[in-house]
Amino acid sequence: MTKNYLEVAIEIAQHAGKILREEFDRPPHIAYKGEADLVTQADKRSERAIVEQLTKYFPDHSIVAEEGTGREGTSDFRWHVDPLDGTTNFAHGYPCFCVSLGLAQRDILLAGVVFNPFYNELFAAARGEGATLNGKPIHVSKVETLATSLLCTGFPVHKRVGSPNIHYYWDFTLRSHGVRRDGSAALDLASVASGRFEGFWEFGLNRWDTAAGALLVEEAGGKVSDFANEPYQLGGPMILATNGLVHEEMRRAALEISKRDPAAPLKR
Ligand code: IPD
Ligand code: CA
Ligand code: CA
Repeated sequence: MTKNYLEVAIEIAQHAGKILREEFDRPPHIAYKGEADLVTQADKRSERAIVEQLTKYFPDHSIVAEEGTGREGTSDFRWHVDPLDGTTNFAHGYPCFCVSLGLAQRDILLAGVVFNPFYNELFAAARGEGATLNGKPIHVSKVETLATSLLCTGFPVHKRVGSPNIHYYWDFTLRSHGVRRDGSAALDLASVASGRFEGFWEFGLNRWDTAAGALLVEEAGGKVSDFANEPYQLGGPMILATNGLVHEEMRRAALEISKRDPAAPLKR
C-alpha cells in the first residue's frame, strides 16, 4: 500500500522537477514574501502541478503546500509539499534545490521523496522499506565522533534577528570537521541519509521542509529528535537528525551551547 503512495510521489516529484529545471534556465521572476523570503514563478508553477496531480490521485487526502494552494481533505492522510526547497539558491543560479513531498497519516510519516533535478538525484523512502538514491539503497555514515563529523545547518529566511543559530554554527564548527550551510533543509536531510553529512540541526523549520527528509534519515538507519531527545514532531521548534552514532554527542553539545549563551535558547 505504502509502495503505491511512494510510486505516485516519485512520479509527481519528477514532473515538478522538470518544471524547476526548465525555469532554472530562464531569468528568475522574483517576488518577496518578507525581507529575505523569496518566491519565484518556479515555486508557484511547481506547486500548481503537484497539487493538481495529488488531487487527481488522492481526492480525499489533505495537502499542505508552502505557497498556500493546498486543500483540506476528508481522510487522515496529509501531504506536506515544498514545491521548491532552496528558493534563494535557485534565484541566484546555485543548483542546490529540490522538490520535497512527504506523506503522513496523522503524524506518522509513510513516504517521502526529495528530488534535485539539476543533479538528477532522487531520494525516496517508505516506512519500513528503507531509503534509496536513484533506486539504490542508502545508509547513514559510520562516523562515530563529533570531532570527525561533517555537519550541516540552515538559517531562517524570516525572523532572522531572533534566530539563535549563529551561536550553534560557531560552536559546532569548532567541535567538528566543519559545518556546511547549503540552503536546502530537505537536501541537508537527504545528505545525512546518504552518509554525506553526519548530522544536521535547524530551528523553526516548517513541516514541508522536513517531512520527507526526516523519514529518509530514519529509513537510512539514522535518528531524528529534538534537543531534549524527544521524538521530532513535524513543525517542532528544532530538529536534530544524525547518523545515530553522533546523536548523543551533538545533542549534549547543543544543550551546553544553549545553557552557556543567553542568546542561544530558542525564543519563539
Ligand atoms: C528554506 C531552506 C533553507 C532553510 C530555511 C528554509 P525555502 O526553505 O530549506 O535551507 O534554512 O529555513 O525556509 O524557503 O527555500 O523553501
Ligand atoms: Ca523550504
Ligand atoms: Ca519552498
